[in-house]
Amino acid sequence: TYVIAQPCVDVLDKACIEECPVDCIYEGQRQLYIHPDECVDCGACEPVCPVEAIYYEDDLPDQWKDFYKVNVEFFDDMGAPGGASKVGKIERDHPITAALPPQGE
Ligand code: F3S
Ligand code: F3S
Repeated sequence: TYVIAQPCVDVLDKACIEECPVDCIYEGQRQLYIHPDECVDCGACEPVCPVEAIYYEDDLPDQWKDFYKVNVEFFDDMGAPGGASKVGKIERDHPITAALPPQGE
């Protein structure tokens, strides 16, 4: 699966959403999350993120390794909704993201 890492936090550019053919990029409060079971590894989202937040799981930089579980665990109590657009914004974040100080600027 692909993973959205820390550079997305408090930025939420959302260019990635437009590119995903399976609508598997879900919006939380402070970052977006890729559903690990719905992502088909097409890679279309990766180059369009202006802050380079998106990585294939094996290519995550060391300082953001935790974001693999951040993306996976975000969906623990949701199953596979089968499409982010119908779910809309989700008013929570993974605890690791929620604990970060304000990012950017
Ligand atoms: Fe975040 Fe980049 Fe998408 S900032 S919302 S991962 S385009
Ligand atoms: Fe979608 Fe990116 Fe996966 S475009 S299918 S989330 S690699």
